Amino acid sequence: MKTLNPLFEKNLAWATAVQQEDPDFFTRLASQQHPELLWIGCADSRVPANQIIDLPPGEVFVHRNIANLVVHTDLNCLSVIEFAVEVLAIRHIIVCGHYGCSGIRAAMDNQEYGVIDNWLRHIKDVARFNADVLDGLPPEVRHDRLAELNVIEQVANVCNTSTVRNAWRRGHELSVHGWIYDIRNGILKDLDMCISRYEQLEEKYRNV
Ligand code: CO
Repeated sequence: MKTLNPLFEKNLAWATAVQQEDPDFFTRLASQQHPELLWIGCADSRVPANQIIDLPPGEVFVHRNIANLVVHTDLNCLSVIEFAVEVLAIRHIIVCGHYGCSGIRAAMDNQEYGVIDNWLRHIKDVARFNADVLDGLPPEVRHDRLAELNVIEQVANVCNTSTVRNAWRRGHELSVHGWIYDIRNGILKDLDMCISRYEQLEEKYRNV
């Protein structure tokens, strides 16, 4: 028995509308995908990758998790990066955080939440690395700043993956970007952390 019927109805209406607009759309996409972008973002329901940058299916390869983390040993994220770079030959990896992130908020208080505490530990590490910048800021400003610093840290983590380092060594054209999205007005901001070769990482990272 089908449940959540309204969703199937909405899907049918959407697929029909897309096909009416472009009769070959699904046939074309079914044969291959050529996205130029890999989006690594937060799982937050308010931050849907394609909608925010207004791109249709087929344009963005997406990985999302709580607080857009790129953990050195996370096979899930590492596999996505490898597939995107090696197989899809994408040109841009975007790490996109957002203001008002519950993951960032939870990492900054001292409550226990369960399994997720181990995941949030990575954000607490980012806070510790940047304690001199964060200490003394009012709580709301501190959350926003930590969300930005977390993106910058994850950009560095992407650049340090063996996949990205090897791609650059081979001369593959690939840039890693750090962006932040404001859920209060829908606007994206570039954190000026665009890295296109390994040597740029230290220079940019040091000047944050
Ligand atoms: Co979030």
